Amino acid sequence: MRAKSARFITSAAKASDFPPPEGKEIAFAGRSNVGKSSLINSLVGHDGLARTSRTPGRTQLLNWFAVDPPAVVKAPALAFVDLPGYGYAKVPIAMRAGWAGLIESYLKDRPALVGVVLLIDVRRGAEAEEQDLAAWLVERGLPLIGVVTKIDKLAKNKREPVLSQVKRDLGLKRLPVGFSAQDGDGVDDLWRAIAKVVAPA
Ligand code: GTP
Ligand code: MG
Repeated sequence: MRAKSARFITSAAKASDFPPPEGKEIAFAGRSNVGKSSLINSLVGHDGLARTSRTPGRTQLLNWFAVDPPAVVKAPALAFVDLPGYGYAKVPIAMRAGWAGLIESYLKDRPALVGVVLLIDVRRGAEAEEQDLAAWLVERGLPLIGVVTKIDKLAKNKREPVLSQVKRDLGLKRLPVGFSAQDGDGVDDLWRAIAKVVAPA
């Protein structure tokens, strides 16, 4: 499944540039290069919508997209927010702190935000940053959807143990979604998880 429609709204490098909300927002958080932009493109079925890159740390802004979910998931129009990737070693420490502050101010002070999709690279697993962020989100009562990206890099019979480990490491209520932008794995499951958060039954 894919979104009925999607369009870019705007980017922001500072809190005073955040746009007025157009609906409920779902944010996508994760390490630089984890596959956030690729995942958003897969969900909306639009290859070039969120910019992807082989150069980690390219998306240094928050990017808003207006998204009309697939008809079958019965969710209202919403916005996806592609957060800047953290943990990119080549960025100066001062700049890293600035990004963290920007992400935090978004996650803290955004009433429209109804849930966060936290992406974990299948080859790295959940590290300290992901564990901290997950705990912080749960403390604030924000629904958290775990996703393990680039699952195509792992043979099918080796996937379940990794998903279980990430579930334990992050203290998730359910197994994270195994996702591949390359193969399309996990797109439908993730749409269903998002719909549950946006329009609880
Ligand atoms: P930043 O914006 O720099 O933080 O990165 P990002 O998290 O948006 O990652 P992006 O989607 O740009 O992907 C980073 C790299 O991983 C690109 O080279 C993608 O082609 C690759 N990639 C993303 N998703 C997948 C996937 O599911 N499978 C494989 N094999 N590669 C992927
Ligand atoms: Mg990106």
